[in-house]
Amino acid sequence: QSKARITALGTHVPEKRLTNEDLEKMVDTSDDWIVQRTGMKERRISAENEFASTLAFKAIENLIKQSQKDVSDVDCIIVSTSTPDYTFPSVASQIQKHFQIKQAGAMDLNAACAGFTYGLHVANGLISSGLHRKILFVATETLSKITDYTDRTTCILFGDAAAAVLVERDEETPSFIASHMGTFGEGGVHLYRTNLSTTMEEHSLNTSGKIVQNGREIYKWASRTLPTGIEELLQQAGLDFDDIDWFVPHSANLRMIESICERTGFSIEKTLTSVEYMGNTSSVSIPLALQKGINEGKLKNGDTLLVYGFGGGLTHAGLIITW
Ligand code: ACO
Repeated sequence: QSKARITALGTHVPEKRLTNEDLEKMVDTSDDWIVQRTGMKERRISAENEFASTLAFKAIENLIKQSQKDVSDVDCIIVSTSTPDYTFPSVASQIQKHFQIKQAGAMDLNAACAGFTYGLHVANGLISSGLHRKILFVATETLSKITDYTDRTTCILFGDAAAAVLVERDEETPSFIASHMGTFGEGGVHLYRTNLSTTMEEHSLNTSGKIVQNGREIYKWASRTLPTGIEELLQQAGLDFDDIDWFVPHSANLRMIESICERTGFSIEKTLTSVEYMGNTSSVSIPLALQKGINEGKLKNGDTLLVYGFGGGLTHAGLIITW
């Protein structure tokens, strides 16, 4: 069995900021309410001509700049997104074209906000099995394009961003220690994007395509599900809370993260988040938090991380990795 390591990271966020003050002018809300309930102050929003693909290109360019790594020889491109430019061709195929990558499979994966941890699970599996050697895995989201800016219960939450990692074969210093995935399809009705079907109850044709969410139910489900998943991961790894240097949960809502920390015993000081200035960037929130941790001098090579994503599906997945 081969082993895999995350060898590089790059991120990108759009220029345009959407602050709580901006939102106060758009819907009946307030800075106080948003900060108190979510911990968010602002988010980044893609311009009309920016899409999942173009944000991804910039994140990959930053990965190359920061790591001096070459992506032209990757043998598989995986993209996590729930907001691809097109249903097909995939964003992964557009990346293959843009970077002129010669010998690579390319596919998009959709596990909503759990997409980053699902993708790492898949990339590690493909390398561990010996099928692949060097995988470019990108998370990219433009949730603003499917957000209903007349719905105050959702429009305050979401932001756009992209992040790229390289996962390579490495027998000496592998990253992956434990990995766990789960789904609760019954809860899917609490968070969905209308697409070819209208509501999940009616199941008839529709093309408007906006996010519909019952935030309270998601909040309750995540606060219940993560502690069990985290325990399972620690057991799998034979580790204790104290062995984890950084807990990096999906940055959906700072209050939810605080509540999960209280339930599990992680200290909030040992948590990396991106929610305050980026909002909920879906599957990009975890790598954004990692990049922020690096920039602030917190996250160091060799640190042990517990990353945990959750979102529409309802999906959840976590990993323990060495950075
Ligand atoms: N401003 C002011 N008031 C608001 C706003 C707002 N933006 N939004 C809702 N309210 C009101 C509601 O109408 C309600 O009023 P009422 O009591 O008069 O009916 C009151 O505030 C409380 O509403 P709740 O929905 O119960 O508020 P809650 O404390 O649950 O916070 C929130 C809402 C922030 C959405 C929270 O439930 C949450 O973050 N849930 C998790 C959502 C999440 O993580 N989703 C993403 C999952 S990842 C993915 O896959 C996309």
